[in-house]
Amino acid sequence: MNDSKVTKIGVLTSGGDAPGMNAAVRAVVRTGLYHGLEVHGVLRGYSGMVDDDIFQMESRSVANIIQRGGTILKTARCKEFFEYEGRLKAYENLKKRGINGLVIIGGDGSFNGALKFSKEFDIPCVGIPGTIDKDIAGTDFTIGFDTAVNTAVEAIDKIRDTADAHDRLFIIEVMGRDAGYIALHSGIATGAEHILIPERKTDIDSVVESLLEKEKRKKLVNLIVVAEGDEFGGAEEVAKHVKSKLPNVDTRVCILGHIQRGGSPTCLDRLIASRMGYHAVESLMTNRHNVMVGIQNNKMHYTQLEYAVKAKQKINEEWMKIVKILAS
Ligand code: F6P
Repeated sequence: MNDSKVTKIGVLTSGGDAPGMNAAVRAVVRTGLYHGLEVHGVLRGYSGMVDDDIFQMESRSVANIIQRGGTILKTARCKEFFEYEGRLKAYENLKKRGINGLVIIGGDGSFNGALKFSKEFDIPCVGIPGTIDKDIAGTDFTIGFDTAVNTAVEAIDKIRDTADAHDRLFIIEVMGRDAGYIALHSGIATGAEHILIPERKTDIDSVVESLLEKEKRKKLVNLIVVAEGDEFGGAEEVAKHVKSKLPNVDTRVCILGHIQRGGSPTCLDRLIASRMGYHAVESLMTNRHNVMVGIQNNKMHYTQLEYAVKAKQKINEEWMKIVKILAS
């Protein structure tokens, strides 16, 4: 039974794609249809709203996608939507079609857009956190993070095999934009000697000192995992510095790159995407508007979009301690 004013919803994926976005789209579409709503897919994020690239979705539109990476709705970072004129055009297109509720699956940049849009126009928005970076407050999980981190772990394990065979130091760069969660989680899970993240100042001299000390005790295999956003620089910069101080250490660099964004989502990502997609529609229907649907302590948690775009998750101090002790 739908007592709310929301009768036709649009769903879009925006920003960097993340494995599990398809599972979220599927959940939104099927929950919407279950409640008798019309559901419309918007292509290429906000660009589809601006360009009126929108189509009606049926249950079958989302068949056979729960296991697929990428996003069937495509995604983009839309410059026009930064401007009021772009948002007005988008609003007019939605209005013309009678769309009166929006589900946005994306990261903080996408929520910023949703926040502006919902303040300016009378179309309520609900956000679902979809980003491999896990850099959004108000939720323990973001869709895609678990898959990305597992991809990184698999790759780093393989690097360890060859590092071990050659007694080499590998400096591995992972994604995360200005957040260090992928580095921290994958680094701990692969037993990296050092994990360099933007949330903590990198003391490069102590990294060099510890490598020197390890060289003395013939510990020749070392892995350093660096977040791409680390303030010292990425893997190339770290390698340049290490090589200049320790020219005898056989050092290689590996940048994992976009491999972390693709692939079939893990069970965890499919589950959280399904739960969040379902609850996003329920939110729109129960007039819980302009929030992000998250999960905290295994319960659904709703965060005002305002807060979700401003605050960041905090790095747990205990984790940093564990890194130090376990890698000695
Ligand atoms: O936000 C997801 C992310 O993969 C970041 O980790 C990375 O910095 C960025 O997107 C890369 O963006 P693009 O695919 O546009 O190069």
